[in-house]
Amino acid sequence: MKFKSLIIAGAMALSLTPAAIAEENDPAALNDLEIAHVAYVADNIDIRYAHLALAISDNEAVREFANTMIRDHEAVNEQALALLAKLEVQPQDNFLSQNLQAGSEELINEMSQLRGAAFDMRYAENELGYHQAVNNLVENAFIPNIENAEVKALFEAGLEIFKVHEGHAEAMVASLAGEAEAADHGGHEGKGS
Ligand SMILES: [Fe+2]
Repeated sequence: MKFKSLIIAGAMALSLTPAAIAEENDPAALNDLEIAHVAYVADNIDIRYAHLALAISDNEAVREFANTMIRDHEAVNEQALALLAKLEVQPQDNFLSQNLQAGSEELINEMSQLRGAAFDMRYAENELGYHQAVNNLVENAFIPNIENAEVKALFEAGLEIFKVHEGHAEAMVASLAGEAEAADHGGHEGKGS
């Protein structure tokens, strides 16, 4: 099925192991409370990446993007927690949340070692890939399967915001690539202290 291959492509982009995308671990089969948990974990992962960017990067555009991620993903998480409290339910941990979390731990370790332009590009490219993969999951696996109307509305509103993030991430990657090229061309200039 077309959607299923899209979903599997998204899952693979999130570094899920082949076992994790077997039939019994189908993102489209998660219930509302599991989907809510995945979204909460995914939001918190992007917030962690953003804090890492603020700790390491001196690039103004990267820092501005990171601050936007913290602001927007915290706002979505607050709305999600308020809705779950109103519905008197708890989000449910599941294979996809766990895979996302494990993948992010590895990436945080890797990115923590980088500095300067190398960090900025790794962060920007990951933000682009991460938003593409999560948006694909939300649009094609989650929203069509969410049963509760209020939860679905929250995801639809979230997707709009995250698509804007995806566009910003794409522009950030292009801009950093342009800066890298300009630096290459100026590479024979003497460097000041
Ligand atoms: Fe984001």
